[in-house]
Amino acid sequence: MCRSFAKGLAVHDIHSEVFFPIDMDIAHCTGCGSCSENGKCNISDDMDIFYMTFGGCDLLVLATPIHFSGPSSVIKTVIDRFQTIWFRKGRHPAFSAALLSGGGPSPDYKSTISIFKAFSATAETEWLGYLAIPNTDEKRIQDVSELSFGYGKDIGRALFSDRQ
Ligand SMILES: Cc1cc2nc3c(=O)[nH]c(=O)nc-3n(C[C@H](O)[C@H](O)[C@H](O)COP(=O)(O)O)c2cc1C
Repeated sequence: MCRSFAKGLAVHDIHSEVFFPIDMDIAHCTGCGSCSENGKCNISDDMDIFYMTFGGCDLLVLATPIHFSGPSSVIKTVIDRFQTIWFRKGRHPAFSAALLSGGGPSPDYKSTISIFKAFSATAETEWLGYLAIPNTDEKRIQDVSELSFGYGKDIGRALFSDRQ
């Protein structure tokens, strides 16, 4: 889903990077409050990659499967570690969007969208919307990829026209 979306962006010559936090070393936010002093997290792990990328990109796309009608705990862990931006905004992407997949015929996306939008608002990015694909447990991978590719092209077109 993510890689197909990136290919859709590439149609408009928009370079992107795809990260899979499940394969990264990312600890939970402990709510220690140290970021309230200087806007920096005092945990040293792979979140540094996200902090750096976040400060240098124009579009942030959050992606998650729906787990128990919410985001995966993996993406939630990443979002929680951005508590730093509550205290210091710094440079951030101008835009944000999301990709969601649910295995069932009518997944409940509400909580996930609410969390993603809260994150976007805190980061002061403009929320562009989301693609939600239900029934992925039954769908062929090619069909999911095609939908995601199409959405990547749409978002790319929107960003491209914004740059004119
Ligand atoms: C722990 C867990 C909870 C899930 N909860 C839901 C759910 O509430 N609604 C739903 O439609 N699918 C649910 N699913 C199915 C996943 O959303 C679906 O398999 C997903 O689209 C697979 O994406 P992936 O291949 O990227 O993991 C759940 C799957 C797991 C593992």
